[in-house]
Amino acid sequence: MIAIRNLKKSFRNNTVLDGIDLDINKGDVVGIIGPSGTGKSTLLRCIDRLETPEEGEITIDGKTIPLSKHDRKQTLELRRQTGMVFQRFNLFERKTALENVMEGLVTVQKKSKQEAKELAMQELERVGMSAWSEHYPKHLSGGQQQRVAIARALAMKPQLLLLDEPTSALDPELVGEVLETIRSIANEGFTMLLVSHEMSFVRNVANRVIFLDNGKIVEDGTPEEVFEHPKSQRAKDFFAKMYLMKQPEYTI
Ligand SMILES: Nc1ncnc2c1ncn2[C@@H]1O[C@H](COP(=O)(O)OP(=O)(O)OP(=O)(O)O)[C@@H](O)[C@H]1O
Ligand SMILES: [Mg+2]
Repeated sequence: MIAIRNLKKSFRNNTVLDGIDLDINKGDVVGIIGPSGTGKSTLLRCIDRLETPEEGEITIDGKTIPLSKHDRKQTLELRRQTGMVFQRFNLFERKTALENVMEGLVTVQKKSKQEAKELAMQELERVGMSAWSEHYPKHLSGGQQQRVAIARALAMKPQLLLLDEPTSALDPELVGEVLETIRSIANEGFTMLLVSHEMSFVRNVANRVIFLDNGKIVEDGTPEEVFEHPKSQRAKDFFAKMYLMKQPEYTI
């Protein structure tokens, strides 16, 4: 189990995360939803130490690591356990798809080039991108780039995969292939925190949904519980607005 305790993060006097406690079971796919500006990205970024919270710790793989202290060694240790997939892919432009996936294996995990190449090819295979291994990002569609970014994160064998709106920078016709990829890795048992505004997808792929508002988790339950029977007025209002906006349905 992965446990996050008392995560507190403010920007100046704006309290974004107000003492978040979250236990994640192995294999859980936790969908994180909530209004814009409510701290969903900040939560993921604190877990990956891209932001430094004032307080908080994470227990992962049996080790408790404070999130609030800047300690290079512990940051590296944490990053070995977590993999982040960003909205805008963040691939290295001057490296091929294969080299992008190999990068962390060689530089962080110190694998030989040959071994890294074999492992990277397996991950590209997993996301259906092995035929594109020699292509540079600029010759790939957004959806393909995001699948390479997912392969890159998976190559590090993270205990926890963090995905921050992985489809929101994509043209609508490319969203489906990335959702399909995420769904297939979810089915393989990877543990993940998925921030997404694709409500029908979250509902479909997550086995647990949390709703963040005002720095706190205000709903936490199965997709059915949260989407069908939200307890908080905030979530009820949010869903009412969402349904009015008529989300496209991705039935995969
Ligand atoms: N680096 C920063 N400096 C100052 N304020 C920040 C910074 N990053 C985030 N914030 C503020 O923290 C709050 C939470 O931002 P965050 O990006 O985590 O929200 P979010 O839930 O991911 O929103 P969205 O759904 O729009 O992506 C916002 O009020 C935002 O303005
Ligand atoms: Mg965000």
